[in-house]
Amino acid sequence: MTGTNITTARLLLAGAALFFSTLLQADDFNQADLDRWQAEYMSVVAEGERVFHGGLGNDNTVSCDQCHPNASNTHPETYPKFQQQLGKVSELWEMINWCIMNPLEADPLAADDPRMIAIQAYINHERRGVKLAPGKH
Ligand code: HEC
Repeated sequence: MTGTNITTARLLLAGAALFFSTLLQADDFNQADLDRWQAEYMSVVAEGERVFHGGLGNDNTVSCDQCHPNASNTHPETYPKFQQQLGKVSELWEMINWCIMNPLEADPLAADDPRMIAIQAYINHERRGVKLAPGKH
């Protein structure tokens, strides 16, 4: 290799190293970030608890907690699973919509509706620590 080629190779390597260290730094986080993320998570859980306790504003005033106090019998750990009411393998949010449309007689929520995400955050938070058992009945 000529001197020029070696210099070029060194420059390329240095460039690559700089590029990857920037990528790594982008993934870096500190305790303040963790605290902020946890606070945001807990605020979504709190919003889910509010929606779960009558926060959907449906006319018949039925709320999730009447049949599922403290998210009991919601079994988030068993999803996805075959759900008889829906006739297919379903995700948790689809079964939540079944309850929104049937006992609550309200319009279903989009999967990415912030209220749907909040309900799931609340349910999963209440059932935290339960072993995952997808497909289980
Ligand atoms: C009138 C009582 C009632 C109300 C109110 C109700 N549910 Fe249900 N829920 C049921 C019944 C009955 C089932 C069906 C149980 C089954 O077959 O798995 C069910 C099933 C579920 C499941 C699946 C449970 C499983 O074992 O797979 C979830 C999750 C759920 N409900 C969430 C909610 C949410 C969220 C709300 C409020 C939007 C709500 N439910 C309101 C009665 C109710």
